[in-house]
Amino acid sequence: MNYRFPLIEKLPPYVFAVTNQLKMEARHRGEDIIDFGMGNPDLATPQPIVDKLCEAAQQAKNHRYSQSKGIPNLRLEITRWYERRYGVTLNPETEAIATIGAKEGFSHLILALVEPGDKVIVPEPSYPIHSFAATIAGCEIIKLPIGGGAQATLEALRQLEYPDSAQPKILVLSFPHNPTTEVVDLAFFEEVVDIARHRGYLVIHDLAYADLVFDGATAPSILQVKGAKDVAVEMFSMSKSYSMAGWRMGFCVGNAQVVYALTRIKSYLDYGMFQPIQIAGVIALRDCDEYVPEIVSVYKNRRDALIKGLNLIGWDVPAPKGTMFVWAKIPGQYAKAGSLEFAKHLITDAGVAVAPGIGFGQAGDTHVRFALIENEQRIAQAMRGLKQFFSQEPDWV
Ligand SMILES: Cc1ncc(COP(=O)(O)O)c(C=O)c1O
Repeated sequence: MNYRFPLIEKLPPYVFAVTNQLKMEARHRGEDIIDFGMGNPDLATPQPIVDKLCEAAQQAKNHRYSQSKGIPNLRLEITRWYERRYGVTLNPETEAIATIGAKEGFSHLILALVEPGDKVIVPEPSYPIHSFAATIAGCEIIKLPIGGGAQATLEALRQLEYPDSAQPKILVLSFPHNPTTEVVDLAFFEEVVDIARHRGYLVIHDLAYADLVFDGATAPSILQVKGAKDVAVEMFSMSKSYSMAGWRMGFCVGNAQVVYALTRIKSYLDYGMFQPIQIAGVIALRDCDEYVPEIVSVYKNRRDALIKGLNLIGWDVPAPKGTMFVWAKIPGQYAKAGSLEFAKHLITDAGVAVAPGIGFGQAGDTHVRFALIENEQRIAQAMRGLKQFFSQEPDWV
């Protein structure tokens, strides 16, 4: 029997699988590959969070099914965290829901909000699930070019004109932005909320890199805009700020109708995170503010080392103001080979793994992305490999 699964056919093989495969093969040959590929944080979760998990896991009452939308204390702590950080008041019963990481929350949120054929505006390049969640839900994706600065993004958004009967339903945004590393200020979100209100869009803002900003840059919440709750929700991820990637914890806050829709669909799909994880999440949000700057400074030091190293070997890359990434334009003659070919050769010829920009959409093909997940010593080692790589005349371009 030859089964066909049309939905799966719409999901191209993950571009990153190609580079991952090459990386694994090189490692099996005994080569040391410096891995800047995936944005998978390498830092330990702060100890009080781990301790609380261990303690809570000892109690049988925490071994049962938990609540899909998150235990009340976690939702309360999420709203307190928003009040403390952004001065945004949220109702923990109706305007906050815990998710099994931002990725799960985002995907199911899209599924909950759309009907097949609806239009969803997604920046390109973008974090893959921002567009694939819409593909999975059967939507038409409207690409919003990004990477040329906030004003250019707003201009591009204004130019997406449709008659009222055919307006896009959802606008997806995420700043600080993966992979371009762009940051925006509150004035940007004020414009976005205004446009959304006039056109009837619902805005989903993914604030996964809320804390990862440098050199005095800030990462505002869209909910700081007056009236934003009328048109927007925001997703947050515990993965980066608290180094909790493997724990799978995030949340979604804002517009009550949207939070309700996510709550409903999740109540069909899952039973919530393991309760000890939720209890430990309360500790993270309530007691662990002091750990965040330490985590941020590790990324900043790596960013500085990587940018300095790249510039020293003649690869002119600007220092990002946010995220845990460096978005590097493919230099000179290598550009025409495209980002996948370039990334493959960086693995085999320089011992350095990066994410090819095309994995974030066609518009990303001019760049590769370094994730700041290697320490400074390894970064220095990578620079030696890259210097050697660029000193040789390539026979593949
Ligand atoms: C923009 C963005 N959102 C969400 C995530 C994933 O968040 P989580 O680990 O909470 O699912 C990532 C991870 O790389 C990301 O870049």
